Parts: sequence; C-alpha cells; structure tokens
Amino acid sequence: MSVESAIPAPAASGPGPLRTPPLVGGGVPLLGHAWNLVRDPLGFLAALRDHGDLVRIRLGPKTAYAVCDPELVGALLKSPEFIVGGPLWDTLEVLLGKGVATSNGRLHRRQRRMMQPAFRPERIADYAKVMEEEARATAARWRPGETVDVGAEMFRTAVRIVSRSLLEVESIGEKADRIADSLHTVFDGLYRRMVLSVGPLYRVPTPANRRFESALADLHALVDEIIAERRAAGPGPDDLLAELLRATDESGDPITDQEIHDHVVSLVVAGAENVASTLAWTFHLMTEHPEQERRLVEEVNSVAVGRAITFADLKELPHTRNVITEAMRIRPAAWIFTRRSVAETDLGGYRIPADADIVYSVYAMQRDPRSFERHLEFDPDRWNPERAGDVPEFAMMPFSVGNRKCPGDHFSLAELALILGTVAPRWRLEKVAETDTDTRIGITLHPKRLVLRAVPR
Ligand code: HEM
Repeated sequence: MSVESAIPAPAASGPGPLRTPPLVGGGVPLLGHAWNLVRDPLGFLAALRDHGDLVRIRLGPKTAYAVCDPELVGALLKSPEFIVGGPLWDTLEVLLGKGVATSNGRLHRRQRRMMQPAFRPERIADYAKVMEEEARATAARWRPGETVDVGAEMFRTAVRIVSRSLLEVESIGEKADRIADSLHTVFDGLYRRMVLSVGPLYRVPTPANRRFESALADLHALVDEIIAERRAAGPGPDDLLAELLRATDESGDPITDQEIHDHVVSLVVAGAENVASTLAWTFHLMTEHPEQERRLVEEVNSVAVGRAITFADLKELPHTRNVITEAMRIRPAAWIFTRRSVAETDLGGYRIPADADIVYSVYAMQRDPRSFERHLEFDPDRWNPERAGDVPEFAMMPFSVGNRKCPGDHFSLAELALILGTVAPRWRLEKVAETDTDTRIGITLHPKRLVLRAVPR
C-alpha cells in the first residue's frame, strides 16, 4: 500500500493552512478499503500508521478518516467538535437505543450525571461483595480434570455481576443467566451487521436472522421485567436502578420508561462483554506464560493465606494488577471506535470536513512499536512505576479519555482482579485439543474457543 499524496488544502482560518490527510492507496474498485477492513481488520488498521498520523481511507463510496497517532487520538477524544457516531454506533443503536452509550450533547451530559453516583470509587466496595461471591461460585462450579468453556463461563459471570450489582431484584440471578444467553446471540449478529451493513438482507428470515431477532426481543423483554419487578417491589437498594427510577429530565419530569430501559441495556451490554473478553484473554495469557502465572498465584497466596481474596486485598496485589493492565494492552477487548465531526474542524493541523466518519483502533495503538518497547511481548513488569512513565500519553487507554471515558473503569478493575485472583490460585488451566486461541473478531476481540482443562492446584 502506498500513500497517494498529501493533497494541499485551501488556506483555512487560524494560525496556518490546514493539511488534507493523505489518502491511503490500495483500495479496490467500488469497495475501496472496506474489503481490507473486512478481510483483515487488525492487520489493516495497524498498517495505517505507516502512512501517516491521520489518513483518509475509502469505505465504499464514503471517505473515512483514520487517526493513528496517540496524541491526535487524545485530541480527538477531548474535542467537543467530535461526537459519538459513525458506522459502529449506528449499528449499536439497534441494541442500545438512546442510552448513555449512544446519546450526545445535553442528553448525554444529563445521563452521565445521573449515573455518576453509582460509579463513585467508594461504591465499588459494596459491589465487590457480589463480585467476590460470583467469582467464588464460578471457581466452585468446576470439577477436577473437567474441560471448561472458560470464555462462556466468564461471560456468564460478568453478566451476573453487572446485573446483580446495578439492578438488584429478587429474580435477578435467574434473569441474569437468561440475559447472558440472549446477549451472546445478539453480539454475534450485531458484528455481522456492522461490517457488512447490508441492511435489507437482514430482514430475510434466515435461521440466523430469526435467532438474532428472537434473542433481541428476549433481551428487551427481560429488561422490562426487571424494571417492572423493582417498581412493584417498592424502594429497593440504593443502586443504579434506584437512581434511574427517581431521575428527572431537563424540565423536572421523570425520565421515560423507554429511557430507563435503554440505559439498563447500555449498562449490561457495556459491562459484560468487555469484562468477559478481557478475562478470557488474561486466562489464555496465563497458559502461555507460566512464570507470570506462578508469580501471580504466589502473590495472591501470600496476601490471602488459606482463604479467597477480598476487595480489601487488592491494593496489595501489584503484580496481579500489572498482569491485567498488560493483558488489556496486548489483547484489548474493545478494539475499534468511531466518531463523527459536527462541523469542519482542525485536528492536529489537518482539515476534517463536517459529518466525517473518524475511526481509530486501540488495538493498533497499544501495539505500536513507537510507543512500546518489545511491543508484542507480554511483559506485565512494564507497568511497574519505574517503567510505566516511559509510555507516551494516550498510547494506552483501554477505558478511553474525555467525556465518553468508561464510567465502569474502577468497577472493572476490581472485578477483573477479584475473578482472576480467586480462580487462578485454585485452578491451573491447561489447553486441550479443542482449544482455539486465534482471535475471533466481533464487537470485541476474544479467543475463538477458550476451552481449558481445570486442574486443581
Ligand atoms: C474491561 C472492561 C471494560 C473496558 C475495557 C471498557 C471500555 C470502555 C471504553 C473504551 C469506553 C468508551 C467508548 C468510546 O470512547 O466510544 C467505554 C464506555 C462505557 N462503558 Fe466501559 N469498559 C469496560 C467495562 C465496563 C463496565 C463494567 C461498565 C458498567 C458496569 C461499563 C460501562 C460503560 C458505559 C455506560 C460506557 C458509555 C459511556 C459514555 O458513552 O458516556 N464499562 N467502556
């Protein structure tokens, strides 16, 4: 692939003329680079940095802008000139409606304010009780020598934790398992819709489309049942659902049931898939790096002697934290993000027209050799304080920055450490013939088939 040219742009207002980002060559007729993006998205997105810090690519008839430099991605995420939008979000709206993850502007600001109290760091200790319980239940479910579908187990555990922490109703345990089943099918279907964007084809009642539609309907029905159950039961715990039920909009009226519904779906979706994929990759990395695993197990056992770890122990587990951070760097769950420009604007001296689709890949950035020494090596010690300062700003940001920064970052870090620190000291997980750890590309990245044999320690 070669850069066609850096096309000079007309002078713009401001300190100097803005440049037009170079157009990446190598697209195919009609499809442009959409073909490269579908065939090998990770390789294609990573290769873009060789063409410039900000480049243009063609997706069918449209031009999109790909940002490849950490500083420019940081500027993009912090600028009010770019909103959530673009192909990724248009597809996700099918699932998420107008919840916090897809809204913009005043509505988004109000929604973030509304959910902020539920995610304050001091609340995490309460949620941690559920996390500890679920982590122990998962570890206790497995039998010595059994082959476990670790990917599926992590997904189920993550759905149960987010549902039980934020949406407590009496039937939540049973409902969470049904949510996990529906969500699994919905995620698969959504990614196909996202990359292929063949709209009307998805209305053809093939078995796969029928499964998708039915799982989506189940998911929405379950969420409505949870809201109705809480309303009928009267005031329950002071959790996020309580916050939503008493929330008011700009004019002081209670927010609509539809808005409450869309929020709940956004949270369960955002809170489950990323956590489950991160855990799946972390357990995979532990099978590949026995020395790092040994250090992790020794650290946990030295802090929690003869017992399972608790939230209070987490601050004494620096290696466990480093393992998780490094897993999130080299195997990020969320890998591609899009934004849309609200007006013609300047991004790092480049001219971006109004309504442009912008794309960036955290996967490509967190594996960039310009930012990380031995970039493809799993090296948890790179996050020790004396080395972590070498990482350029914005080169590592699994939870994003700016006004869309993940509100669940502290929640996730506690959850990941509690699950890993509970399961790993109890079970050594071994690959078996059916294990397939190639990357399965979907809304998140995860190992294709992470079935592992559970051997007691
Ligand atoms: C390893 C786990 C997780 C990762 C890597 C992750 C990552 C992210 C990222 C990168 C974003 C920003 C998206 C963007 O910039 O367009 C985001 C947004 C979000 N995350 Fe997380 N997340 C995780 C877990 C969670 C959990 C556990 C929850 C809730 C319990 C959660 C709730 C949300 C919500 C509601 C948003 C939308 C925020 C907004 O648009 O204002 N996430 N997450």
